[in-house]
Amino acid sequence: MKFETPAGRNPIDELNVVGKPVDRVEGPLKVTGNATFAYEQHAVAPSAAYGYVVGAGIAKGRIASIDVTRARAASGVLAVVTASNSGKLDKGAFYAARALAGPDIDHYHQAVALVVAETFEQARAAANMVDIRYQRSTGAFDLEAARRRARAPKQGPYSPPPETSRGQFAEAYAAAPVQLDATFSTPDQAHAMMEPHATIAAWEGEKLTLWTSIQQINWGVRDIAKTLDIPKENVRIVSPYIGGGFGGKGTILSDAVLASLGARHARRPVKVTLQRALMFNNATHRPATIQRVRIGASRDGKIIAIGHESWSGNIEGGRPEAATAPTRVLYAGPHRMTRLRLAHLDLPEGSAMRAPGEAPGMMALEIAMDEMAEKLGLDPVAFRIANDTQVDPEDPGRPFSLRQFVECMRLGAERFDWKKRPASPASRREGRWLVGMGVAAAIRGAPVTKSAARVRLDRHGMVTVETDMTDIGTGSYTIIAQTAAEMMGVELDSVTVRLGDSQFPESAGSGGQWGAASATAGVYAACVKLRETVASKLGLDPAGAQFVAGQVRQGGRSIPLAQAARDAELVEEDTMEYGELAKRYAQQTFGAHFVEVAVDAVTGEIRLRRMLAVCAAGRILNPKTARSQVIGGMTMGAGAALMEALVVDKRHGFFVNHDLAGYEVPVHADMPHLDAVFLDEADPTIAPLKAKGVGELGISGVAAAIANAIYNATGVRVRDYPITLDKLI
Ligand code: MOS
Repeated sequence: MKFETPAGRNPIDELNVVGKPVDRVEGPLKVTGNATFAYEQHAVAPSAAYGYVVGAGIAKGRIASIDVTRARAASGVLAVVTASNSGKLDKGAFYAARALAGPDIDHYHQAVALVVAETFEQARAAANMVDIRYQRSTGAFDLEAARRRARAPKQGPYSPPPETSRGQFAEAYAAAPVQLDATFSTPDQAHAMMEPHATIAAWEGEKLTLWTSIQQINWGVRDIAKTLDIPKENVRIVSPYIGGGFGGKGTILSDAVLASLGARHARRPVKVTLQRALMFNNATHRPATIQRVRIGASRDGKIIAIGHESWSGNIEGGRPEAATAPTRVLYAGPHRMTRLRLAHLDLPEGSAMRAPGEAPGMMALEIAMDEMAEKLGLDPVAFRIANDTQVDPEDPGRPFSLRQFVECMRLGAERFDWKKRPASPASRREGRWLVGMGVAAAIRGAPVTKSAARVRLDRHGMVTVETDMTDIGTGSYTIIAQTAAEMMGVELDSVTVRLGDSQFPESAGSGGQWGAASATAGVYAACVKLRETVASKLGLDPAGAQFVAGQVRQGGRSIPLAQAARDAELVEEDTMEYGELAKRYAQQTFGAHFVEVAVDAVTGEIRLRRMLAVCAAGRILNPKTARSQVIGGMTMGAGAALMEALVVDKRHGFFVNHDLAGYEVPVHADMPHLDAVFLDEADPTIAPLKAKGVGELGISGVAAAIANAIYNATGVRVRDYPITLDKLI
């Protein structure tokens, strides 16, 4: 089905089930421990042996010798996989790093061997007996130093244009009456999702099945087939439950590749989980950035020129952190420029993490906006509202599909009591606490991509949905069940949703905030077909039939839905496609973040007191799961603002704090009550459910709102994240 803005009455708009804050349909399975995550699929592979990954002990160089004799002879050991017996391995299309190194090493903790044994303990013990001699060579590990050699990155399927411009930025900035030129830095960050990367691999002849933890099933099939040089048809990937992805499980990583190789060598299923302490350097992370923002404005607060440059580093073939993304679309201004620069670094691969681009980009841009408002003597809410735009500022012929940014700012200011913000920094004191308030915009792309689903109706009136969409903890199961229930006119508990299997129709997958709007659209399309089939089976006119309360109604007739499937189960499948829609409309979600902090005047300790996010993200399919998404994002933003940072050892080239003790993320005691509200909106131009994603909006902007609140409390402007107390004193 090709998406068209629906005209007239549409069954999805009845909102009997969609839009309701229903509980997660898979919640009971998860809280009772009955949801089987990748490493727990004992039933499918009861004979699985255990693989243990050995990571490289150097960041750059080569393996001079690797001796596996002792490991191979150790008790319980079934196989040892290294580059010398793995066969030729290609790389996937998404990640640039090789899953198995040798003899060349590209980064620290890159896998160099997999030891397979009867038990986990035997595999771990034998892994310590793999004797490796390295030849270390010099690597580049320091972004600041490598920055001078940075180049314009290539544009690719996963990379935005490296440079954009409109008007005459340099001249207009130079002539602007009020100017701001500020440089910011954001550190390397780790996904640190709760469930480690894990895979069980099993071969049946030439056919490979992977039970793994992955966000994009279709990318995984493509990438494992390419890596092992086997046909895609021979690969099945199953991933029904995922304990967090955060962008770090986009496609297959070393656990999946090594489990496949291990299973081939051991001639039985093999399960591999990356040990926590390996994950931070073996898998991907969010790259550090250095960002320069320049804003030129008229004295009355109109932006004349805005420029944003960002430098980041990566291994060969890796992509830049696209931190300039928000500046391309957020504010008006006739003269503009954005520029990405990429430097070669020999650290582990940087890749997508929690709103890649927007999250670190907004950390710089939205402090810059706060600084500019102060220079202009304007309230920072008013300054942002004054520079709103209803068209893509880089391409003024292209309107936003729906943009209620100003409404978010206004509503947030009112609800947060923004007028009580101390007018000048460091002016409010409560005992030992300095108190301040800060604001920032939120923006995040809302792409929709093609997505397919299959729906079945059985003779009991039960509806089953099948799609390879994943639920990474976000609520996909629930909103998909709501969509099918609404379309077929049945109760939620008459719907079964089966996700995360490459044998199901190919969906959009989970990433880039495209999952909710896209995956439900595929389900919608399949349900439209099923409604037609049902109506014709029952001798009704598909156009006029109403599906409600388990009945199909038309004229004076009311027939049980189940009757249509009395003789045989009905099955329909369809794909929703969008053609060139994204060229006609700029598709974004918007929001406003408000934060109040208190800073200890003596110790510099920072406490978050209140946080509010107002979000405009189209129709909210389920206010409960949407709120969880947003407050999760706000918490990650608090982490980015105050604590999250991978510490780079610049001599040896690795992330030093590679566990959850050293890599700090917010805990409950760090967070205040979080308030997240949604504008009541529906976007008819974006997708059939009129919804956009919301998963990454919550994190985009919040760190800068915290930084701005800290400035308002203390008068100290910190431009290098995270804002730890040593930077305040
Ligand atoms: Mo998300 S970081 O685009 O999976």
